[in-house]
Formats: sequence, C-alpha cells, structure tokens
Amino acid sequence: MDTAQRTILVTGATGNVGRQVTCQLLTTDVRVRALTRSPAAADLPDRVEVRQGDLFVPRDLEEAVRGTDAVFLMWPFHTADRAPAVVDALAPHTKRVVLLSSGAVRDGLTHGQQPHPVGRCHRAVEQLIEYSGLRWTHLRPSTFAANTLWWADQIRSGDAVRGAYGAVPMAPLHEADIAAVAVRALTEEGHDKAAYTLTGPDVLTQAEQVHIIGEALGRPLRWEELSREAARRRLLADDAFPDSFVKVLLDTFAEMLDAPRPVTTTTVEEVTGIPARTLRQWAVDHAADFRRHP
Ligand SMILES: NC(=O)c1ccc[n+]([C@@H]2O[C@H](COP(=O)([O-])OP(=O)(O)OC[C@H]3O[C@@H](n4cnc5c(N)ncnc54)[C@H](OP(=O)(O)O)[C@@H]3O)[C@@H](O)[C@H]2O)c1
Repeated sequence: MDTAQRTILVTGATGNVGRQVTCQLLTTDVRVRALTRSPAAADLPDRVEVRQGDLFVPRDLEEAVRGTDAVFLMWPFHTADRAPAVVDALAPHTKRVVLLSSGAVRDGLTHGQQPHPVGRCHRAVEQLIEYSGLRWTHLRPSTFAANTLWWADQIRSGDAVRGAYGAVPMAPLHEADIAAVAVRALTEEGHDKAAYTLTGPDVLTQAEQVHIIGEALGRPLRWEELSREAARRRLLADDAFPDSFVKVLLDTFAEMLDAPRPVTTTTVEEVTGIPARTLRQWAVDHAADFRRHP
C-alpha cells in the first residue's frame, strides 16, 4: 500500500511507549506528527513534526489532529472524566485511533463493571472511541518492563532493591513491542475492532526481575523485602513517585499476589512476526539508566 501521503499523530510522544511509536513510525513511509506540552524539552528526531499542545485543550488537539489519517492516543490520567471532549476533538479530523489502554481491562465488561480502577478508566476511554464512529484498535498491555526504572536509584547506589510484595508475579513487556504492535495497527489494514492483550514472554516475580536486571548489568542484585508500611513510607519520600499513586500501587500488588498467576500471550508475535522481547533484552537496552555515575 502507498503510505507516502499519510500523516499520523502520536500523543504522549515523549513517554515510554509514544517515543518508541514515533521512532518506529519514522521507519515507515508515513509523516509523523507528535504532540507534547513542551516541544523544547521533547528531544524528538528532526523528521518529526512537533506540535505544542495539551490533551485537555481541545483547540490544541484539533489543530494537531487536522489532516491526519490515524492517531496513537495514550491516556496518562487516572479518570476518564475529560475523555469525551478529547474524542470529540479527534473524531471529525482523523480516521482511526489506536489506543494505549491497559491489561487491567477485563474483556466483555463495561467500564462500570470493571473491578480495577485502572481498568474502569481505560475501558471508559475505549468505549467512547468505539461509539465515536472512528476505526479503532485497543492495545491492552501487561506491566511495563520500564516500571523497573522505579528501582534505578537503588540499583545505582547499591546491590539491593527494597520494596514490598517481592513475590508478585507479572509478565514485563518491552515498550518497543507495544510500539511495534501500535505501528502495525496504525499503518496496516486488518486491525479494526481488535483489542490486543499484550504481555512479555515470561512471568517473573519482582524479586526475579531484580536478579535478571543484575545479570544483564553484570552485577549481582538482590531483592530485600520490606513491610507494606515501610515500602509505603519509602515511596512517599520518593519525589519521582506521585503520592496519589502509592496506595493504588500497593493495593494492586496485594491483589496480584492473591490473583491467579498471569498468563502470557503471543499477540506481539502474531501481529508483528517477532516474539516479544525478554526482560533481559529490555535491561540490556536500558543498561545506561542503571549505570553508576563515575
Ligand atoms: N506502566 C505500566 O505498567 C502500564 C501497564 C499498562 C498500561 N499502562 C498505561 O500506559 C500509559 C502510560 O504510558 P507511558 O509509560 O508511555 O507514559 P509516560 O512515559 O508516563 O509518559 C506520559 C506522557 O503523557 C504526556 N502527557 C501527560 N499529560 C499530558 C497532557 N495533559 N496533554 C498531553 N500530553 C500529556 C507526556 O507528554 P509531555 O510531557 O511531553 O506533554 C508524556 O509523553 C498510561 O495510560 C498507563 O495507564 C501502563
């Protein structure tokens, strides 16, 4: 298919996934437009058409989306209260939306029936898009491998990661794999009305993840279990971690400990032809983020 004239808008283009989507789209024939609130700080490749804008300012969004064929939409908020205005701004000016949703969304339930607050928020955005008349694809990723960057300070300064719920199992997913699926859905036919559940290839506890990152860095690292209260205090003292998210995170870990063990999917490979990257590969790709400063 000739994609030479198509333009795709990437929201969240400076984030973990959006930056990958932006860069991977540059390897296709489409024009790439990126939305950020701070173009000067965005540090995006020269070939990207960077637009200043806030998702909560409909005029910004309308100007950015006008003339596009597709939008990669991410929703970096804890509620969907302001999502109707965003979908209304997109719908007249583009043809399809690929939404970065969440693996917390339970299939077959409306947003009101979702058991988890993250699932409720993302399902509400999904539903708005489904009702908008736009062509759509939802991406429902498992835990991002990039969440382990929360441990970067501890790994830079010592050999132990201290936290609660070290036995919680999850299937960490490389942001490059989420982006690879997004790029297919944005540029190819055959992904309409699909809700893709994406996971990494392995189920690993938090303690196992620390060990694997250590192997990739060539340093022995270990998990050191804290009580929930000690972990809570530690997270609240961390300026990089939003206080409002501390209870949600710890509650989520507690629920995951009691829930059935996560199941991996092969959707990344089915959509892209390439198996999902391992956590070890992710850690090699991000080794610089954990390296001790001289
Ligand atoms: N972490 C996980 O394990 C996980 C798992 C499943 C799903 N998710 C979902 O993935 C999403 C997070 O993706 P990510 O990690 O790639 O994001 P991220 O790295 O946290 O980046 C956030 C992005 O949001 C943009 N942004 C924030 N507020 C904005 C606003 N008002 N208007 C426009 N842009 C705004 C920022 O852009 P600028 O600052 O440049 O404007 C930035 O690019 C969330 O929806 C989360 O629920 C996460």
